[in-house]
Amino acid sequence: MLHDDNLTIERPTFVTHLECAFAGDSYPADVIHNLSRAGKPLLVRYDLAGVKKALSKAALAQRPPDLWRYRELLPVRRATNIVSLGETMTPIVALRKLAAKIGGGEILVKDEGRLPTGSFKARGLVMAVSMAKELGIKHMAMPTNGNAGAALAAYATPANIKSTIFCPADTPEVNVSEIELQGATVYRVNGLIDDCGKIVGEGKAKAGWFDVSTLKEPYRIEGKKTMGLELAEQLGWEMPDVIFYPTGGGTGLIGMWKAFAELEAIGFIGQKRPRMVAVQAAGCAPMVRAFEAGTEHAPRWENAHTIASGIRVPQAIGDFLILRAVRASNGFAIAVADEAIGAALDEVARTEGLLLCPEGAATYAAYKQSLADGRVTRAERAVLFNCASGLKYPLPPVTRTLDRHKPIDYAAL
Ligand SMILES: Cc1ncc(COP(=O)(O)O)c(C=O)c1O
Repeated sequence: MLHDDNLTIERPTFVTHLECAFAGDSYPADVIHNLSRAGKPLLVRYDLAGVKKALSKAALAQRPPDLWRYRELLPVRRATNIVSLGETMTPIVALRKLAAKIGGGEILVKDEGRLPTGSFKARGLVMAVSMAKELGIKHMAMPTNGNAGAALAAYATPANIKSTIFCPADTPEVNVSEIELQGATVYRVNGLIDDCGKIVGEGKAKAGWFDVSTLKEPYRIEGKKTMGLELAEQLGWEMPDVIFYPTGGGTGLIGMWKAFAELEAIGFIGQKRPRMVAVQAAGCAPMVRAFEAGTEHAPRWENAHTIASGIRVPQAIGDFLILRAVRASNGFAIAVADEAIGAALDEVARTEGLLLCPEGAATYAAYKQSLADGRVTRAERAVLFNCASGLKYPLPPVTRTLDRHKPIDYAAL
């Protein structure tokens, strides 16, 4: 075995076609796609009966612990097209002290901050770029709130694919710097992520860029799907009762929902599904508004603002997929105020030693709010997604100092 034979061994692949998530019409595999004819996201479909025959839980358990262990359920055909930076399985961390303190049930955090580029965007972009390499794409462009751009840059560069990235002007400095350092060309734009998306759309039409915006190409969702595959495997193929997911474009939530359906089809899990909870910030909550209004789509949220920049997405092309998964799972959508996000970040770090990103902290704030209003109970096992390392965000300054030349009152320290 090399350091990771998931990356080198050829395995059978099972993609049959792609399907419009809205209209259901099908599209051929192995050619370049963006949206469907209806202008909606395309989903990758597999010969799941074939996967069922080819893959067992025992065989899976023997493979190295990264997302490429699920190759039979992934779109990349040839191992040589895998562009990897080490997409390790991420740990699940229990918040035991906090559960006892707030009278909650089991609270598990899936800590995605351990992935390359420090966020779960690595899952989606490693897949999109590997597929771009397989399909011969030479120039990818995307709008980003930061983390996705960092992941695109990181994978496109070693794949010899050019990447051009647009982010809102107030994107955290660290994100803009890492994008540039990892070999992309990045522009700050005086607008929000959907304004950046319009520039990418025009660049696609005028300069032939490949548009890798959230859900506008079919493979990021396949990468994000591995969160669901991995979570199920790590929990012994038992579904948790409820998942709190910080929802922007919603790729992760939609991807996990797809993963669970595929796992059931190959006989790895039963019919039980977690309740899917879409967590948004009070200053940008289009899914919450649509969920409560009972509508299928979520109109743009004007004047969007929140400290959780990753979920500052005023309008999502996969809105109907997010809302369908939330409703079908008997879950809900919930908004949390920025003050609650800040307080949650502080509480988890000071109590559990786990530094969440603001988006991850939003899920803990939402859990607390839901426990208080009875939408979750202490009988339930909850999984919260911390989608990025807390170290990627500005941290509060520490002003305490000590003068080593003066007498120190040790008892008072
Ligand atoms: C840290 C973080 N959390 C959550 C999200 C939202 O992810 P999704 O597009 O899957 O809803 C993002 C997206 O930028 C993010 O960076």
